[in-house]
Amino acid sequence: MLLSLGLLFAALSLGRCIPLQQAPNRSKLLLVSFDGFRWNYDQDVDTPNLDAMAADGVKAKYMTPAFVTLTSPCHFTLLTGRYLENHGVIHNMWFDTKTGVRLPYYTTQGISSWWDNGSLPIWITAQRQASEFMECLHSQGLKTGSIHFPGTKAKYQGEQVYKKVVEPALFNYSNETNWRQSIDTVMEWFTVENLDFITLYFGEPDSSGHKFGPESTQRKNMIKQVDRTVGYLRQRIQEKGLESSLNLIITSDHGMETVIKTNEIHIRKVTNFTFQDLDFQLLDYGPSGLLVPKEGKLEHVYSVLKNAHPKLHVYKKEEFPKRFHYANHSRITPLLLYSDPGYVIHGRYKVQFNKGEHGFDNEAMNMKTIFRAVGPAFKKGLVVEPFESVNVYALLCELLGITPEPHDGSLEVTKPMLRSGAPLHPAGKMPLMLGLALVLGCWGGLF
Ligand SMILES: *[C@@H]1O[C@H](CO)[C@@H](O)[C@H](O)[C@H]1NC(C)=O
Ligand SMILES: *[C@@H]1O[C@H](CO)[C@@H](O)[C@H](O)[C@H]1NC(C)=O
Ligand SMILES: *[C@@H]1O[C@H](CO)[C@@H](O)[C@H](O)[C@H]1NC(C)=O
Ligand SMILES: *[C@@H]1O[C@H](CO)[C@@H](O)[C@H](O)[C@H]1NC(C)=O
Ligand SMILES: *[C@@H]1O[C@H](CO)[C@@H](O)[C@H](O)[C@H]1NC(C)=O
Ligand SMILES: *[C@@H]1O[C@H](CO)[C@@H](O)[C@H](O)[C@H]1NC(C)=O
Repeated sequence: MLLSLGLLFAALSLGRCIPLQQAPNRSKLLLVSFDGFRWNYDQDVDTPNLDAMAADGVKAKYMTPAFVTLTSPCHFTLLTGRYLENHGVIHNMWFDTKTGVRLPYYTTQGISSWWDNGSLPIWITAQRQASEFMECLHSQGLKTGSIHFPGTKAKYQGEQVYKKVVEPALFNYSNETNWRQSIDTVMEWFTVENLDFITLYFGEPDSSGHKFGPESTQRKNMIKQVDRTVGYLRQRIQEKGLESSLNLIITSDHGMETVIKTNEIHIRKVTNFTFQDLDFQLLDYGPSGLLVPKEGKLEHVYSVLKNAHPKLHVYKKEEFPKRFHYANHSRITPLLLYSDPGYVIHGRYKVQFNKGEHGFDNEAMNMKTIFRAVGPAFKKGLVVEPFESVNVYALLCELLGITPEPHDGSLEVTKPMLRSGAPLHPAGKMPLMLGLALVLGCWGGLF
């Protein structure tokens, strides 16, 4: 009885699905990330275009990234609103503790099972968002695109970003001509292809910060290049007539710290420690380490490393500080290491030569990053208090008019940035109301 009623209802509502009216064009959204843009990088360089954007929109004093402060994990937090222990992308490198295989950043981009670990990035949610009601109204979901953004290459539950550009394995992340081409592609996707939401990633100023250090002239020059690029982007938005219909967010994944080269942490040199006591190790990756001791060796390895160096912190998985929201995931190993700002962890051999590094405690000021926004949804000339990056996702969903997946942030945190009054996403809310009316109509007709 229930089943046949359901079938009848389905048939009836399909039958009544007539396009009532064309949904008005919703606002578009562009999320830009400049990797490794520390919160205060604009304070020792002239940045006229970033300043103009702040005057026209909203600027956070700074944003606190998730922990560990690494590229892929922190970008996935922006895309899902979840801490690392909840989205599962806990490192830039895919690894297998059984075989000891570790894959570098670029290769890991292509391992869907690494990314698709229970949290759906906003691209996929936006594409599928058509609820039963909206399907009834012939809504196809939103059209999304992504250029170079971490996570772009993967498939999620078999689905992927509609329009994507993935960088080749050997790619010059600093080429300004290339940056402008990416911006031109974004403009074309918005205007010709009518995409609703695009994510755009630049690998700088992270590369310059690593190579030359965060206080270097090279990093400062790169900030000038970033600023010119922001100017170019906003000029193109204006030329395309998108200024009143496009919301633009510029943010990043983490900051950058100068590496200290004295009194270094070198695990091989720790008294009574031997790599023979380990089944697996992921070391030599900035300030973090993941270890799997051999059976029966956990207490021993833990005790020899625990007080080995004043700047090194060693924890059993269950005892890792909860404030990091990092260790409660099946991919986290039984022992975890992290070091204080400036100190990287060397394993067997010293293979880390960067002058700048990240991955440190997200409470350290030099790990804080930027958040800027401008567009029809945002207030003008507003500076807001710092907030955590897990909250960005709920804002993106609100701007797109889609229902968020379960997440660790809150829209309340970013709501003060938004203009009150005007509905944010007429096209998002209206079909729901129309759908409700339709259903009521259907039921009214049935009974
Ligand atoms: C909606 O956007 C498309 C593509 O940009 C455009 O062709 C169309 O005229 C727009 N419709 C309205 C009502 O603005
Ligand atoms: C996440 O990945 C781990 C293996 O790395 C796997 O055991 C677990 O089932 C995955 N969880 C989900 C929800 O995909
Ligand atoms: C990347 O391109 C820029 C020019 O845009 C050039 O100055 C730089 O040397 C290139 N870097 C590498 C590693 O090729
Ligand atoms: C920079 O990028 C442009 C466009 O992709 C390319 O033509 C040029 O050769 C690149 N320059 C360098 C130095 O890599
Ligand atoms: C190293 O091991 C030896 C032998 O078990 C022990 O006597 C010594 O105290 C240990 N040293 C440290 C620093 O743990
Ligand atoms: C750890 O994660 C599980 C789900 O994987 C959850 O049920 C549990 O509450 C979490 N524990 C803590 C202390 O957050």
